[in-house]
Amino acid sequence: MTAQIFSQALVGVDSLRPGLPPSVFQAGIDVAIDQSYELKPSWRSQLYGKGKSLQWDAMNRIDWSETLDPENPLCYADVFLPVYGTKNWAKLSKQDQAQVRQHYQAYTVSQFLHGEQAAMLAAGRLIEVLPELSAKNFAAQQAADEARHAEVFSHLLHNKIGIFYDFDDGISSLIRWGLSDRRWDFVVLTTQVLLEGLALGMLQQLRDFSKSPLIQNIASYVMADEARHVAFGLQELEQFYPQLTAVELRERAEFAQEGLQALRRRFNPNVAWRNLRMEVPLEMSDSPPISLEQTISRLTRRLDTMLIKLGLVDGEGSAAASERLAHWHSADESLNQNNPGALKPAVS
Ligand SMILES: [Fe+2]
Ligand SMILES: [Fe+2]
Repeated sequence: MTAQIFSQALVGVDSLRPGLPPSVFQAGIDVAIDQSYELKPSWRSQLYGKGKSLQWDAMNRIDWSETLDPENPLCYADVFLPVYGTKNWAKLSKQDQAQVRQHYQAYTVSQFLHGEQAAMLAAGRLIEVLPELSAKNFAAQQAADEARHAEVFSHLLHNKIGIFYDFDDGISSLIRWGLSDRRWDFVVLTTQVLLEGLALGMLQQLRDFSKSPLIQNIASYVMADEARHVAFGLQELEQFYPQLTAVELRERAEFAQEGLQALRRRFNPNVAWRNLRMEVPLEMSDSPPISLEQTISRLTRRLDTMLIKLGLVDGEGSAAASERLAHWHSADESLNQNNPGALKPAVS
């Protein structure tokens, strides 16, 4: 396996994407103009005010001078690699392990970048469709936040990592599906709950386990903004969902479950394994990657909690979510054993 992996040029990976046309999809929407201009004190205006006072400049606030290790740019332990612990991984030479690590990390940061652009689109949509000015204000500020995040991850990829991966198919479909829906709450569910809920978990993991001050800084700054966005989306939906019928709620629950599956599949990126010419697809490995399930459980913990809170999981879904939550606790214990003192409290 080792000799075959890197014998040919890698496919589908670029360091830059010059001249590519934009990808376009349709989204018919009703645009709302607030004619009252009332800005009463509310949780929306509070979150907007908090965001105003916490703006930051990505190029000036972050110290970009650190040189990252090309073989481990995120400065991360191998336990976070989905192939770690498999027989495939054990068979690789140190050099090939380094390349797998480098590509998986580039894939991860690329997905952050694509997700940030998607969140910027979603925020733009919310400016148009949410009826109240205070909500439009928050969405406008979120759009600026997402522009800054896209700037950060683009800079990190192009100047520090040098490998670029396309949008993961499953997440790309989820975003197209969610953002083509004319109902605003699907936009919120797709981005501010599913995508940003997962992003928060991943950023927290980066902040707590990366040994690079640059990566820790990026994760901390972006995370502070994302926590506001998630809080906003969650509260909007908590107020809106009780107005829906059981059938309408069921539609949201099914969408959320499918979205959750797409997000979970993102941790087993076939595109990266294909690029690296892995002989055996991960899911067919004769040694199941226990750490992969632990990592996913840990990262989707917040999503499970949010979906339960929104009433989007019940019966079987609720049992599965509770099981994942229980699994997360055991995964946490295992991580703590490997990284004593590393785990910090979650951002709420
Ligand atoms: Fe963001
Ligand atoms: Fe965000």
